[in-house]
Amino acid sequence: MTEKEVLIEVKELRKSYPVTKESSLEVLKGINLNIYRQEIAAIVGKSGAGKSTLLHILGTLDRPDSGDVLFEEENIFKKREKQISEFRSRKIGFIFQFHHLLPEFTAVENVLIPSMISGMPDRNKAEQILEEVGLRDRINHKPSELSGGEAQRVAIARALINSPKLVLADEPTGNLDSENADSVIELIFSLREKYNQTFVIVTHNEEFAKKCDRIINIHDGMVVD
Ligand SMILES: Nc1ncnc2c1ncn2[C@@H]1O[C@H](COP(=O)(O)OP(=O)(O)OP(=O)(O)O)[C@@H](O)[C@H]1O
Ligand SMILES: [Mg+2]
Repeated sequence: MTEKEVLIEVKELRKSYPVTKESSLEVLKGINLNIYRQEIAAIVGKSGAGKSTLLHILGTLDRPDSGDVLFEEENIFKKREKQISEFRSRKIGFIFQFHHLLPEFTAVENVLIPSMISGMPDRNKAEQILEEVGLRDRINHKPSELSGGEAQRVAIARALINSPKLVLADEPTGNLDSENADSVIELIFSLREKYNQTFVIVTHNEEFAKKCDRIINIHDGMVVD
């Protein structure tokens, strides 16, 4: 990475969940942070610290109570709902701990789904991405016919089909043995080299976090050093 250019600016982000009628649980207590173009940033912190909540808000899957998220200087939560979902499907790819592949569909069909939602399905591209994640021979396999590591690679291919600028991953190696975890980590780094994408990755895998360009530590709803 040469110069640090800001991709996302997070300002004073707050989020609470209601507990009873009178009380609520304050999960994010004023998060301020930047995400830079083409970086691989790790988000770490104890269970319950608010990591997934933050990632979901960055991905517009959830809304903050207050504060702003500027993506390429655009204030995303100021947009209309329809524009937000367009933004999400064009600019953001998601990888979760459990692959969430649809069991009735083959690997290549699962990869195609986000591109069908955004209106530009391209089977050749889906096959090419599967090849890049090392699954050329598994294109027509259903999830039940894939190993855990292979299924997670399909999920990564699915996250990349729309060429998103930002890839958000919530414990992408959390459900894998160390060998499969290592190959997913390697894959993420090689994809960044190739496509210049930005990755924000929540992880409990210390070794993985240390390899990332930067570690963002969340403690009790705040970013700490
Ligand atoms: N939809 C919800 N409604 C109510 N409380 C919630 C909701 N989602 C999360 N919480 C609570 O908010 C807190 C933060 O949750 P979050 O999922 O962001 O933690 P996390 O840092 O990702 O933890 P982990 O490492 O265990 O995944 C937790 O105490 C959780 O119980
Ligand atoms: Mg979580």
